[in-house]
Amino acid sequence: MLSEKERSKTYFIQTFGCQMNERDSETIAGMLEEEGYTPSEKREDADVVVINTCSVRENADNRFFGQLGVVKKIKEKNPDAIVAVCGCMMQQKRVTDRIHDKYNWVDIIFGTMNIDEFPKMLRERIAEGRQEFHVLDAREQIAEGLPAARRYSFKAFVNIMNGCNNFCTYCIVPYTRGREVSRSPENILSEVRNLAAAGVREITLLGQNVNSYGKAEHLEKDFCGLLYDIAEVDGIERIRFMTSHPKDMPERLIQAFRDCDKLCGHIHLPVQAGSDRILKKMNRHYTKEQYLGILERLREADPDIAVTTDIMVGFPGETEEDFLETLDLVQRARFDSAFTFLYSIREGTPAAKAPDQIPEEIKHDRFDRLVNALNTITAEKNAACVGRTERILIEGRSARGGEGTCTGRTESFKLVNFLCDESRAGQFADVKITEAGTFSLFGELV
Ligand code: 5AD
Ligand code: SF4
Repeated sequence: MLSEKERSKTYFIQTFGCQMNERDSETIAGMLEEEGYTPSEKREDADVVVINTCSVRENADNRFFGQLGVVKKIKEKNPDAIVAVCGCMMQQKRVTDRIHDKYNWVDIIFGTMNIDEFPKMLRERIAEGRQEFHVLDAREQIAEGLPAARRYSFKAFVNIMNGCNNFCTYCIVPYTRGREVSRSPENILSEVRNLAAAGVREITLLGQNVNSYGKAEHLEKDFCGLLYDIAEVDGIERIRFMTSHPKDMPERLIQAFRDCDKLCGHIHLPVQAGSDRILKKMNRHYTKEQYLGILERLREADPDIAVTTDIMVGFPGETEEDFLETLDLVQRARFDSAFTFLYSIREGTPAAKAPDQIPEEIKHDRFDRLVNALNTITAEKNAACVGRTERILIEGRSARGGEGTCTGRTESFKLVNFLCDESRAGQFADVKITEAGTFSLFGELV
């Protein structure tokens, strides 16, 4: 335990990347608070600065080392400040070697699989003054019972599994998050029950590939079974999940969008590309028609379901013809929205070694054409919401709308701005949609 002086110290966590990282940062925050630290508004004032890194974004290395350069100034001003770096990038030796080489003032380095060791590393760093470095390459069980300082009191991420076994040829995740490991249904349910008792109304189940929940452990309960168990928990009114892989979408999960009342009508189903040739090279294990077939079945089960996706352009060897297949898929799939990516090399993945990398200007041209096509459809989909009354979980003050404007999400995950007292955050309300923008909707309480 820390001394009284240490207890008044503060922390600041900077998080990059996906929801898994956000959830990990909530655990890191919870552990720091258990150690007596309180949140700092500003990074430069904090006694402990944590950078939780992501390897998926383009130029991740440059961004991260750029940030480290800025953080160094904090240490120059306050030599007692402790800088900890963690997350996906720390699982790459290339990165940790560079830290050891050029940034050896970093105090603590830990990986994605040993977050639970952070408090011990912090105490040892303070007591012994030497750099703490520990990154695991594999872990058979996910640490349980860790605290969490959660960002919201009414909605929560619940991690159900870590890692990925799919090895899409462009993706670094199987190397940085390791093989799939699932939590037990008992541990997940007990976390959900505790959250519900504390007032949480919406749960998002997280995993890199939730459809393969329990497979590595040969659990009797599959993802769908887990979903229905969670739907039994009193107090939980909405359930979401992400991410699912199109190659293993069981019929029962598709039907859950019709049969499970608490399951929100939204699925994030990354497609990546429309050309079967490219999908094969990506090791995705489905074709364009199979993907579209899944969407058809999902829309039969729930005609209002919103579908969002991830799409990439410029994978090695992608021809104009391949790209036109992606555009055709976009027209037929009519996504509610999409995250778009320019393929870029991740060292250590099979696609990084492909000889037929696509020139940047071609990638950018395809990217612009793709985004235009997607934006038109998103705008049409949003316009179709005008006049409808949607049930919204009020999240709090809108960052863009100013005083008296709140945001919340529809069941289909669309962001809505409306006039509302901030004190109603965490409550459900019916909002009539009055106006549609490209990326969000506007409405009024009814
Ligand atoms: N280049 C571009 N985009 C990538 N993604 C993953 N790896 C890469 C890469 N090497 C995208 C995929 C994935 C999303 C999270 O990030 O579309 O679904
Ligand atoms: Fe990466 Fe593919 Fe696993 Fe998703 S399913 S995390 S894209 S390897």
